[in-house]
Amino acid sequence: MKTILTLIGALGLLGWSLTAGAQPDAPARQKAAVCAGCHGEDGRGANPLFPKLAGQNAKYLGRQLRFFKEQTRDVPAMNAIAGTLSDEDIRLLSEYYARQKPRLEEGEGSPEGKRIYRAGIAAKKVPACMACHGPDAEGNGLAGFPLLKGQYVAYTVKALSDYASGVRGEAKTPMRDIAARMSEEEMKAVATYLATMK
Ligand code: HEC
Ligand code: HEC
Repeated sequence: MKTILTLIGALGLLGWSLTAGAQPDAPARQKAAVCAGCHGEDGRGANPLFPKLAGQNAKYLGRQLRFFKEQTRDVPAMNAIAGTLSDEDIRLLSEYYARQKPRLEEGEGSPEGKRIYRAGIAAKKVPACMACHGPDAEGNGLAGFPLLKGQYVAYTVKALSDYASGVRGEAKTPMRDIAARMSEEEMKAVATYLATMK
């Protein structure tokens, strides 16, 4: 009898650990269902004005969600949604999207964009983007500098324009001064390079 009970107990435990092992993302996935309509399944994109989240570092994601919640970053749809998230929801969702695989866009890229990304624009005192966002534009997870690789062109251009006009970003973010020195063509070039970079 005792052996049978132990066996049943062991099987139960085994069953539990198999389900837990197969679905480590289950709680986050449930929370992310509401996000999928705009950000795509697993955050891999659905619409060029809604940023891809897949593969973005958790520190950056968590910070932006808190900005939306506090309305430091003013985007009505996101302010409403982030307002419903607890600190624990923000942690779960940020870690979940950070674990997903990023998705690149198809296309030709831009040699001018590549030059700006790697070397900046000396005449305008625009620093090399690479210095903070990394040689492969994968960002810096420890510093919370965002991944830029694979992001939609339209969203990256909007982000840069919003920094330039001061609509987005804390006064102390380096992005405001950097973007303000760039023309729209330069923003498009660098965004095109980033979307398709291998
Ligand atoms: C109704 C559409 C919509 C839904 C639903 C939505 N978002 Fe968003 N989200 C947006 C838009 C639009 C932006 C970009 C705002 C901008 O232009 O700056 C955004 C931006 C973000 C960003 C910033 C990304 C970056 O690169 O800076 C994060 C993080 C984010 N959303 C997370 C979420 C999460 C998590 C959920 C679900 C709990 C969610 N969103 C649901 C529309 C949506
Ligand atoms: C000194 C470091 C630094 C340099 C240099 C830099 N960035 Fe950034 N960048 C940041 C930080 C930090 C953030 C996040 C700011 C925030 O919280 O809004 C950011 C955010 C961004 C975003 C928003 C990403 C998103 O998902 O919304 C874009 C786009 C961007 N940078 C592009 C560039 C480009 C293009 C260049 C070069 C012309 C560049 N950055 C140079 C530090 C830097």
